[in-house]
Amino acid sequence: MVLAEQFQTDDNNLEKLKPVFEAAEKDKEKEKHTILIVDDEINNLQLLKRTLRKNFHILTAGDGKEALEVIEREGHNISLIISDQRMPRMTGTEFLANVTEKYPNIIKMLLTGYSDIEAMIDGVNKCKLFQYIPKPFEPDELEMIIQHGIEAYELTLSKNTLLQDLKELFFTTIKSISSALDAKDTYTHGHSHRVTLFSLILSKELNLEESFIEEIETAGLLHDIGKIGVSESILCKAGKLSDEEYESIKEHAPKAKKILSSIPGLSNVALWASCHHERWDGRGYPNGIMSKEIPLPSRILAIADTYDAMTSNRSYRKGLPHEVALEEIKNCADTQFDPEIVKAFVKVESIFKESLENPVAYYDKYSVLNKKYKKN
Ligand SMILES: [Fe+2]
Repeated sequence: MVLAEQFQTDDNNLEKLKPVFEAAEKDKEKEKHTILIVDDEINNLQLLKRTLRKNFHILTAGDGKEALEVIEREGHNISLIISDQRMPRMTGTEFLANVTEKYPNIIKMLLTGYSDIEAMIDGVNKCKLFQYIPKPFEPDELEMIIQHGIEAYELTLSKNTLLQDLKELFFTTIKSISSALDAKDTYTHGHSHRVTLFSLILSKELNLEESFIEEIETAGLLHDIGKIGVSESILCKAGKLSDEEYESIKEHAPKAKKILSSIPGLSNVALWASCHHERWDGRGYPNGIMSKEIPLPSRILAIADTYDAMTSNRSYRKGLPHEVALEEIKNCADTQFDPEIVKAFVKVESIFKESLENPVAYYDKYSVLNKKYKKN
């Protein structure tokens, strides 16, 4: 091959590789972190921008108010903010304090002279500042400080991702245990999931906080976990139980507490699960506690559990119609059940009835855990 042809070929190859280089360049661009610089002094703003634009996407704002508008649009993309302290309309610490609540993960830095002692104290107290940048600054030094800030940001993100993964794993494990429990007792197939669904419907009607409902959902899924320790021949017995067998079944309530209280983070769930057979009038088990001595989630679980026991099919009988269960629960207000929760139940009884047709779909709709942790 003559030299000219070879050059021609190399040029062609380079030409072919151009899109690959361009894509790599684009990927590199995409990976860059975004920094918001807020300063009313244009020279300062330009100097910061020149120093940092090689390695970062840069957004700028001339004061705190303008910066808040930028954050409204771009907040989720911003990794780090550098703000001057002395600016018109809003000081740097006022602006950063505003950002902290909504975007706690963004790394915040304050540009300030050494004389601004008050601003420094404010920064520590209100803005969770990562670092001060004293004025005047050396560009090299600034780059190093920013690099440290970005590393801290990445660390926080990976910590959060890890935490989210752990929660997802925990949630999946709880659901698997609950499904295994439902499978153990063939006559009450799907019982734990339906009790959880009914507890969720009641909790929402009672306007409980989402984090509280999340724990109630966990308690619903695990409320019968103590049945792990009850023999299947008793659990699945179709006929009448002997006194001894009934005593053995009753053991599942304290057993739930024993099993769950050894798991970190489930102490509430352990207590609530262990009290789901307590009665408002004190004639329940295992401890015979009464009225508001019984934790609210256990009082909710008690109605949910009884409603499911009445409406679901057994090998020896068909489930009762919704209307019969409704009347029975109404009749047991003040004796077996908390009258306030019975009132809430009556208000949402039509949702209970509808959900019987497709409890799985209703569970998906009402579940807090699914919404937060389920991977699609
Ligand atoms: Fe139970």
